[in-house]
Amino acid sequence: MRKKIIAGNWKMNFTPARAAEFANSLVNTIDDAADNVEVVLCVPYVAIDHVQYELDGTDIKVGAQNMHAEDKGEFTGEISGEMLAAMCVPYVIIGHSERRKYYNESDTDVNKKAHKALEMYITPIVCVGETLEQRKNGEVDNVLTQQTHLALVNFKTEDIPKIVIAYEPIWAIGTGETATPEQAQAACKKIRSVIKHEFGEDAAEAIRILYGGSVNPSNANELFAQPDIDGGLVGGASQKLSFAEVVKAGQANA
Ligand code: PGA
Repeated sequence: MRKKIIAGNWKMNFTPARAAEFANSLVNTIDDAADNVEVVLCVPYVAIDHVQYELDGTDIKVGAQNMHAEDKGEFTGEISGEMLAAMCVPYVIIGHSERRKYYNESDTDVNKKAHKALEMYITPIVCVGETLEQRKNGEVDNVLTQQTHLALVNFKTEDIPKIVIAYEPIWAIGTGETATPEQAQAACKKIRSVIKHEFGEDAAEAIRILYGGSVNPSNANELFAQPDIDGGLVGGASQKLSFAEVVKAGQANA
């Protein structure tokens, strides 16, 4: 049985002080719900230690939103996996569509970062997903096959359960337009079938595949009830106290 993950992505929101304050309020509403699902808050780098401090003693984990593939060097403004590991960060989002779009991250970058994250014992949450145009052109399966394949190049079968994939259709991110449960299920099933083809049935059954894109308290339950959806990557709705409702939907479908 795959344990569901409900991951929040705070993106570039909240100062460290505000992040701590919000985490403190949130913890009172969701701590009890956190034991049969994993709850992760991917916060801005500068807020990691503040939020860790607030969540100390709870089951809620603090993740990062990106990392560099190298350990160190002349990469002004970047943060390495080694640095995140030193801060005991257990999860990192890799290849979010905003990183791919605004910072030109390629599938090769995504693959390198995912390898480095695992090397540092950090679970990568690797994002894949099609644009609206690709969906309209009937290219969803091809895009997901290609992105999943390229993200997982050179991983060993035993690594696969240590990776998380997030299916995030780009047209549904921050738009208020959610994929229907059927669309999201079909895409996550496709991703699992690609993994089965490349790494075998056990790896495919073990890897957790999340859905992301306008998940909110009113649609979470139906999404998380789908057999191939193992939780959510939640942007806007994770920055509100009602995120607790999304966590509860995860728990109800655990
Ligand atoms: P959203 O963002 O929930 O605001 O659509 C999801 C994401 O970008 O991970």
